[in-house]
Amino acid sequence: MEAFGNTRLQLRDNGRLRHFLTLDGIGRELLTEILDNAESFTGVSERTVKKVPLLRGKVIANLFFENSTRTRTTFELAAKRLSADVLNLNIDASATSKGESLLDTLRNLEAMHCDMFVVRHASSGAAHFIARHAAPHVSVINAGDGRHAHPTQAMLDMFTIRRHKGDFSQLRVAIVGDILHSRVARSQILALNILRAGELRIIAPRTLIPAEARNLGVHVYHDMDKGLNGVDVIIMLRLQRERMRGARLPSEHEFFQRYGLTEQRLRLARPDAIVMHPGPINRGVELDSHVADGAQSVILQQVGFGIAVRMAVMSMALGPGPAP
Ligand code: CP
Repeated sequence: MEAFGNTRLQLRDNGRLRHFLTLDGIGRELLTEILDNAESFTGVSERTVKKVPLLRGKVIANLFFENSTRTRTTFELAAKRLSADVLNLNIDASATSKGESLLDTLRNLEAMHCDMFVVRHASSGAAHFIARHAAPHVSVINAGDGRHAHPTQAMLDMFTIRRHKGDFSQLRVAIVGDILHSRVARSQILALNILRAGELRIIAPRTLIPAEARNLGVHVYHDMDKGLNGVDVIIMLRLQRERMRGARLPSEHEFFQRYGLTEQRLRLARPDAIVMHPGPINRGVELDSHVADGAQSVILQQVGFGIAVRMAVMSMALGPGPAP
């Protein structure tokens, strides 16, 4: 797995969160605290006035150098529900598109007294780079960098699993599809190992499994039917064509024949298994519409829980923290 320097960078001297860049180096206690705090924020979205004053007076800038629907909007909603002021930088119309360096753009945002940068970038390590160069009062949240990490997505996935299944120690979890190019899968595997999930399987063709897979604490399956047998949680992933170099797959049709989740295949899992997907979903490529919209699908719940989880992460990084 790729690493981008000292994972201690994201923690303050007292062990509290300053940045949230990767789950590598995050302990079980801190990870559980994020989930517990997210639990307390879920009710805010159901109130008439969907706001708490925790980050009043703070300024949060969304810097999305790569497309996003769910992540950018749920970060924005989360920041607004915490009463922060939010800037959504239009990267295409910003000075970076006129040749200004990324660091010069950041210095300008810091001069406007921004307190947090939420960063998505196509390059692995981009959020670490920004965190290393950020002013001391600024926190950086990784909203997805290349194929490296998407830690808040993994946290909302863990939150969804815990909501439905409770204890992780007895769970069999299968992650299916394009593991090789997936920052989501890398972060999920770290999170599930930290939370000591009972059994973790990855299911994919040989061409879509990273070389280091066997060092990740997972069981590797190339046969979908065998891999799904008796699992409690199925996490489907999108085929990331935009990151594929060369012919890794014969066709999407053939991929669906071998690795698509159909109602028939879903019956191989436990009867109460849940079906997850980080989105965007491709119907008829990773999963059948009947499964995507079926009773066992929790895909849209994942999106909603993303707001509470991002509120938890942002408030922990910028909030006052516990009294000394
Ligand atoms: N899951 C996820 O990162 O989706 P977006 O690309 O829409 O943000």
